[in-house]
Amino acid sequence: MKVGVAKETAPNERRVALTPEALGKLQKAGLEILVEQGAGDGASYPDEAYSSAGATVVDRDALYQQADVIVKVQKPDPAEARLLRSGQALIAFLSPLSEPELPEQLGQAGVTAISLESVPRISRAQTMDALSSQANVGGYKAVLIAAAALGRYFPLLMTAAGTAPPAKVLILGIGVAGLQAIATARRLGASVSAYDVRPETKEQAESLGATFVTLKSVGEASGTGGYARELTAEERAAQQQELNRYIAESDVVVTTAQVPGRKAPVLVSEEAIKGMKPGTVIVDMAAEQGGNAALTKAGEVVTTPNGVFIHGPLNLPSTMASGASLMYARNIAALLLHFVKDGAMHYDFEDEITRGSVISHGGKLVHEATLAQFQAKTAVKG
Ligand code: NAI
Repeated sequence: MKVGVAKETAPNERRVALTPEALGKLQKAGLEILVEQGAGDGASYPDEAYSSAGATVVDRDALYQQADVIVKVQKPDPAEARLLRSGQALIAFLSPLSEPELPEQLGQAGVTAISLESVPRISRAQTMDALSSQANVGGYKAVLIAAAALGRYFPLLMTAAGTAPPAKVLILGIGVAGLQAIATARRLGASVSAYDVRPETKEQAESLGATFVTLKSVGEASGTGGYARELTAEERAAQQQELNRYIAESDVVVTTAQVPGRKAPVLVSEEAIKGMKPGTVIVDMAAEQGGNAALTKAGEVVTTPNGVFIHGPLNLPSTMASGASLMYARNIAALLLHFVKDGAMHYDFEDEITRGSVISHGGKLVHEATLAQFQAKTAVKG
């Protein structure tokens, strides 16, 4: 069976789906690896590194013609989607719930579409959890951006010229990215506080050395599958109001709050930003989903009239492409090996990982939640 590593075509995407390091395990399982010319360039893995690891470097047409499985980071653009053919499988981040049309179209073409976002978050699938591996990179990088943008030290420094107090860093949202942000800010010596609506995050934040912020106005808001639920309008207003004080005391606020399938909740209101000191920094990791701060502009740095810098970075994992790809490649390799039996892709829909992650197969959508989204969307249009 041949696995094809495609070169990413999305603007500013520097990652690659498999790195030379990850090939050995796959080759041991009898898989042959084809790599599109230049696929690893953006992540500093040249073609020669793949050749030395036993892969064959080919052009795009040969890759799509010969590979049984295409592996990517981002979803295919329309031209790439047309190159995919019946009987082939595609593994990538496909956002099937927000864009069910793509897997539906791939299904129609006989392509088996496998989405990394849909891999169930169970212990057995932890090695395949690309959402986590990439959120980890994001949380780390967000804090580095904040540290570079803040015009003062993160750690407590005692020098001959006097003492610099540690920076006060507030992390909003303590999921995978938030936990890595806490750990990174602590390693840089900052004094860290953190807040989440899921009460189980208190112990996790404290174990990394952060002080957990408990709000009186908002109770538990755990949803299903370890995620948060969306707050009501009253809860949201009360939450913003009560957070203002903590935000005003902070030198840095890193926001990571998300609710699956919804616009990101606004946790830092305009009033809260007005209350912040000049030179303070917000890094809003939810910029792409509408932002956790009221004045965030996706992909930009906004300087407010009172001198607050609001960073709305996009695709943080791509800005650390070599390390992010290394982790992503291990996720891809683990997921591929889950499917490979006797040198071919094998789909056992009794298995939770297969049922969770295979979106289209055998000519149609087989993933229930995606099918429901697709039907709801086409019903609205029709
Ligand atoms: P996410 O990216 O969906 O959300 C980030 C954080 O924002 C979450 O902790 C959420 O509670 C928080 N949040 C949402 N609305 C908020 C609000 N209004 N105010 C404050 N905070 C808010 O979540 P992520 O990081 O993808 O994972 C969340 C959880 O998923 C984990 O903590 C864990 O329970 C579960 N998980 C399980 C894994 C496994 O078992 N293999 C692996 C990874 C995650």
